[in-house]
Amino acid sequence: MIYFRRTFVQLFVAVSIMSAGSFEAIAQGDEAKVLYQRSLAATCASCHGTDGKGVENGGMPLIHQLSQSNMLAQLMAFKSGARSGTIMPQLAKGYTDEQLEIIARVLGQK
Ligand code: HEC
Repeated sequence: MIYFRRTFVQLFVAVSIMSAGSFEAIAQGDEAKVLYQRSLAATCASCHGTDGKGVENGGMPLIHQLSQSNMLAQLMAFKSGARSGTIMPQLAKGYTDEQLEIIARVLGQK
């Protein structure tokens, strides 16, 4: 019986430490959020170049010239199938709507 009580106390302490850890995570939240948002948008750089500023006439559309709202509209159209393409329809389906909004916010013209 004592053994079980001690286990419970240990569990309680462990859970307390874990929740203290998540308070710290909230404090670092802004930085982590920016990093998360930048890393989502960075997945596009392999084809569209850093920040979407690819090579002029390089065979890939330069997406940095699109407005934030137009970019989101294109991404949602690729995702829904309203716009066809070779790569983007499959790719866009891999992101949630919220992630596409973040990507358009990071890469699109403000
Ligand atoms: C593997 C290469 C590749 C990657 C990675 C890629 N794209 Fe594309 N993107 C293309 C190609 C190719 C097109 C032309 C449409 C098509 O064929 O799918 C395109 C078209 C677009 C367009 C339409 C441009 C216009 O002028 O209307 C947008 C917007 C776009 N991509 C955004 C993105 C975003 C945002 C990401 C990252 C989440 C991304 N792309 C990742 C290859 C890529």
